[in-house]
Amino acid sequence: MVSKVFLSILLSLNFLETIVGETRALNERELKLVKGYSLDSLLNFTELATEYGYASEQHTVTTEDDYILTMFRITRGKNCHGPIRKPPVLLMHGLLMSSDSWMDSGPKAGLAYLISDLCYDLWVPNVRGNYYSKKHVKLDPAKDYEFWDFSAIEIAYYDIPASIDYILKHTMSDKINYIGFSQGGGTFLMMNSERPEYHDKIRVGILLEPATRLTYTRSQLFRFLLDYYQANLPYLYQIGIYEALPQGGIVQEIAAFLCKNYVIADTVCRYFLSLIDSFHPGSIKTETIRVLMGHFPAGTSVKNMAYYGQALNADMFQKFDYGRSRNLQMYGTAQPPPFNLSAVTVPVVVIHGRNDFLTSPADVDWVSSNLPNVLENYYVVDPLSNHFDVTYSQFTTRFILPKIMEYLEKFSQYRDIYWDFYFP
Ligand SMILES: *[C@@H]1O[C@H](CO)[C@@H](O)[C@H](O)[C@H]1NC(C)=O
Ligand SMILES: *[C@@H]1O[C@H](CO)[C@@H](O)[C@H](O)[C@H]1NC(C)=O
Repeated sequence: MVSKVFLSILLSLNFLETIVGETRALNERELKLVKGYSLDSLLNFTELATEYGYASEQHTVTTEDDYILTMFRITRGKNCHGPIRKPPVLLMHGLLMSSDSWMDSGPKAGLAYLISDLCYDLWVPNVRGNYYSKKHVKLDPAKDYEFWDFSAIEIAYYDIPASIDYILKHTMSDKINYIGFSQGGGTFLMMNSERPEYHDKIRVGILLEPATRLTYTRSQLFRFLLDYYQANLPYLYQIGIYEALPQGGIVQEIAAFLCKNYVIADTVCRYFLSLIDSFHPGSIKTETIRVLMGHFPAGTSVKNMAYYGQALNADMFQKFDYGRSRNLQMYGTAQPPPFNLSAVTVPVVVIHGRNDFLTSPADVDWVSSNLPNVLENYYVVDPLSNHFDVTYSQFTTRFILPKIMEYLEKFSQYRDIYWDFYFP
């Protein structure tokens, strides 16, 4: 009896706390809505999916080195009117982005919506360090610097394999199709070069503006930013700064605060985005700019920013440069070794734009020409297509989707009847 009363008091306290917690979160969101933030900029992946009529799931993936990642899935597109095709598709975001970047331009242009509308079983991971994947079995990202001791190389070596294995296990498939943007494309190549056992788990890799070496990056602002992290890495470590540009950090908060205003979004914020990348008038809707600033920048390690800073000044696609003496210790060579692109034997399709000021055509063509199994190195028809167009343009159905569709179709089948029977 006593224990029952005790239990019900505990339960109701727990219940109360849940309500209070929710009200608090709700209040913060409502407050922002009143202040003029766009609703979509405040929603997470599953909330966005629900808002637009898509069924989604949230999954947790643990890597070999104990990072805890959040991966989302859209099981069936709202406009999918047929059987779901196999294999599953993995859609990987870029540097400082998250799964939500694939939704910021809305259901008529966001690739997460469009690809699931084509009846693919769509999985959208988040790599270590962004706001969905800031967790670890043992390390506390708020206290332990070891959590932040990673660059794109660890993302390639641990996060992508863990995500692939999770999808294969969960869907009882033997392969996936991979689509990766920018860092998501470069890390695909690193993984396949370092872990050839993953070749058999991939049918095709579709790489959108893959970031490898950044020798010919034209954006001065982007160069300045990455150079800053590279040059100041030891100093940042000394003063205890290991995380770069988190969501909820000062840069993101100020950007979201300013860009929520339609007029400022259409002028100042648009101009700023163009300075980071390049000018492509009319491509990104002002509403998309208002929304994306709620999800970007999504955070990474300062070490990862420094790694891309090194890539600006390298003429190879290579590992992290620790400086001569530590390189000798780690790699046995004074210079960091290049990734062995000849070992990437999986079929690859490269899609990119001529006006990309971040991953420039010269660098993307360079990596394409060094891969042994490139099915096509495709330039988007619009000569002004740039980096951010992949996630944020309102014209993705016209410029990027057809090519993605072509290769997904070529490397997919409809699930056989018994498959749907046993695993509906
Ligand atoms: C997204 O929002 C929903 C609804 O508020 C919540 O239940 C879920 O935990 C959130 N997901 C993440 C990863 O924050
Ligand atoms: C690169 O990979 C290819 C193919 O697997 C292999 O033949 C070659 O020896 C490797 N090169 C180096 C330097 O490891």
